[in-house]
Amino acid sequence: MNNSKKNEPTASTELELSVNVEFPIHSQTSIADKLVLLKVRKLLQVLPSYSYLEIGSYLGGSLTPFLKDPQCTSILSIDQRGSQPADERGLKYNYTGVTHQTMIDNLNKHNFNASKLETFDGSVSEYNDKDNKFNLMFVDGEHTDWACFRDFIHGMKLLADDSIVVFHDSSLIYKSLKIIQEYMFASGEIFKFIKINDSEMSCLFFNRFSSLDLDTVFSSEKNLPKYYASCENTLFFTNVMTKLTAPLLAKYLVIKATPKLLTPLAQKLNQLFKPTHQKTL
Ligand SMILES: C[S@@+](CC[C@H](N)C(=O)[O-])C[C@H]1O[C@@H](n2cnc3c(N)ncnc32)[C@H](O)[C@@H]1O
Repeated sequence: MNNSKKNEPTASTELELSVNVEFPIHSQTSIADKLVLLKVRKLLQVLPSYSYLEIGSYLGGSLTPFLKDPQCTSILSIDQRGSQPADERGLKYNYTGVTHQTMIDNLNKHNFNASKLETFDGSVSEYNDKDNKFNLMFVDGEHTDWACFRDFIHGMKLLADDSIVVFHDSSLIYKSLKIIQEYMFASGEIFKFIKINDSEMSCLFFNRFSSLDLDTVFSSEKNLPKYYASCENTLFFTNVMTKLTAPLLAKYLVIKATPKLLTPLAQKLNQLFKPTHQKTL
């Protein structure tokens, strides 16, 4: 048996090894999610050059593989900065205190040249430069079904014909993903939708990208109804837990059981226990 061959890195281990190099800034994506972005970047290399639109950038962690790719000629980061967006899990997530300048400084600190990066503070629905066209859109803003659909339909207006859309947090916005597929079927456009196994990523491929043999690149979920059912169960359980724990702690255990004199202190504690977390996704 040839042992040296056995120890040779496979294409996928090489990709895994490159993850840390490609994503040096904290990103709210898993290793599996990052690998999907790297594979998508590789698919885009069939184009002479490409452009990247990111909805939801936070500290810039998911921008880096595209900033360093010379084939990616322009990047637009759209982020409703300073917001505390709602979330399908029933919590609000606090992104205040991080501005687009915080992100750019962070990128510069990590030696990234941000000259091809443009930022827009707001929602994609408010972005007006419709001449700007992108080959890749990554939707990772507010994690609600409504916001995901809004970001998708407004972002679509900014897409080139040959393009790919990647959605993060599929298990949270799965209803939006179902609606988007239905909408695309009704539009008559040529597309392919896949949910990537063991990750939070789902992708839509348009025109020339839809004719690729995607099974050779991604391991995708073959039973989507079963996947959606499991998302529904998990999300239901998470919502029940959220609704039971945070308000109970805040309202009943603290305020209602406290003598009047201690009310200001209780109110402070109540504030602290409000379901608005610094922790982000
Ligand atoms: C989950 S973080 C993005 C993480 C980033 N893609 C990464 O991998 O590190 C979500 C970001 O979306 C932004 N955001 C929230 N609501 C938004 C909206 N409606 N449109 C655009 N961005 C939004 C937040 O300000 C936050 O920076």
